[in-house]
Amino acid sequence: MAAIIIVGAQWGDEGKGKATDILGGKVDYVVKPNGGNNAGHTVVVGGEKYELKLLPAGVLSENATPVLGNGVVVNLEALFEEIDGLEARGANASRLRISSNAHLVTPYHQTLDRVQERFLGKRAIGTTGRGIGPTYADKVARVGIRVQDLFDESILRQKIESALDVKNQMLVKMYNRKAIEVDAIMDYFMGYAERVKPMVIDAERTLNDALAQGHHILMEGGQATMLDVDHGTYPFVTSSNPTAGGACVGSGIGPTQITGVLGIVKAYTTRVGAGPFPTELFDKWGDYLQEVGGEVGVNTGRKRRCGWYDAVIARYAARVNGFTDYFLTKLDVLTGIGEIPICVAYDVDGVRHDEMPLTQSEFHHAEPIFETMPAWDEDITGCREFSDLPQRAQDYVLRLEELSGAPMSYIGVGPGRDQTIVRNDIMER
Ligand code: GDP
Ligand code: IMO
Ligand code: MG
Repeated sequence: MAAIIIVGAQWGDEGKGKATDILGGKVDYVVKPNGGNNAGHTVVVGGEKYELKLLPAGVLSENATPVLGNGVVVNLEALFEEIDGLEARGANASRLRISSNAHLVTPYHQTLDRVQERFLGKRAIGTTGRGIGPTYADKVARVGIRVQDLFDESILRQKIESALDVKNQMLVKMYNRKAIEVDAIMDYFMGYAERVKPMVIDAERTLNDALAQGHHILMEGGQATMLDVDHGTYPFVTSSNPTAGGACVGSGIGPTQITGVLGIVKAYTTRVGAGPFPTELFDKWGDYLQEVGGEVGVNTGRKRRCGWYDAVIARYAARVNGFTDYFLTKLDVLTGIGEIPICVAYDVDGVRHDEMPLTQSEFHHAEPIFETMPAWDEDITGCREFSDLPQRAQDYVLRLEELSGAPMSYIGVGPGRDQTIVRNDIMER
């Protein structure tokens, strides 16, 4: 039995989709524990590129059952668009199952996300505009709509009525928008209810029974540690807990069952949306990483902000998640750049900080303290063993390992499924 959690170690887009795809072939279930259709996970199989938003990338694994856990917020329109798109390409999404406790994103959550961002003006978070924050806010405020509410029309109507009582006041009086009719939301949900019902399960029970029978489960976190609502760069975060503890809450699998926590980390750093980013580059190297790394957001098409590897963040992520291993991605992007800076600590107003500063204000002032290593010039995209890598690439990986709080067990040398060096297989322990 194995229960592995995949967690983004930086600000997202580290390559969680690719890592899931590689491990997904060895597990029985791939569970998405948090987030919604704000994610964008890329999988490249046999030259074919798939971009998953709401569905776990495990939907492409032949034998795994993909599950949307209770911690996910589900947009039904986006769900069926994605399923139809995948099936049109020959993929099989028929095994998909959804927790009855997952919350539903409604059209009013999407409207609120967009108007709230507009009202924030210069202080906007740069959300994906998918209604994620307002849906989680309703969940915590206990006025959310859950998947199971689709089974009881009168309860569903009551819940929508009480949510809209307040939402319409906000939309009309604060945001100068039209009120939303209860019937319109009822019709929206009823249009999907019959199709979604056969997919709905008691996911907590199914997954724990599977573990008891010795099956393997992979949890594919969305977003990342630095976007976590508790541990990230608040308020420039998403509204869920993408960290390892959140994966337990978002799936109903207890912490004592977890056999490995795999942090996905890029060989440099990127961020989409607003918020502090100490190693961000504003010179030609930022453009270089953006172009050569193909750093364009899957979900919103925005260019990703780029910077050097930040070992302070990696150590922090290793701590708050309890990483047992890292999957280092995109090492190939650094080929031929001469010298590679690595941020090892911060200078905050003249004081050296080897670990995350106490406050966000200090983090906003953090200036990276770099050490540099020589890059390699050889093409590494065909390397499959650690010893195939040029010595300088090996040295870079080993230095990152020393600085980052967990072993670099997997190394990505290209986007393809096979372009991976496995130093220590997390499934074979
Ligand atoms: P996710 O959100 O963490 O799943 O990551 P994204 O899919 O948003 O972004 C990661 C991008 O990097 C995708 O385009 C992947 O195909 C690509 N990728 C993943 N691993 C590697 C790698 O080792 N090398 C290269 N060159 N690309 C990679
Ligand atoms: P994956 O899973 C990168 C960012 C948004 C914004 C903030 C809040 O592909 O790594 P939200 O719509 O969630 O309320 O936006 O979080 N964000 C991501 N950035 N990758 C993601 O997902 C992200 N999901 C949300 O850009 O800054
Ligand atoms: Mg992504």
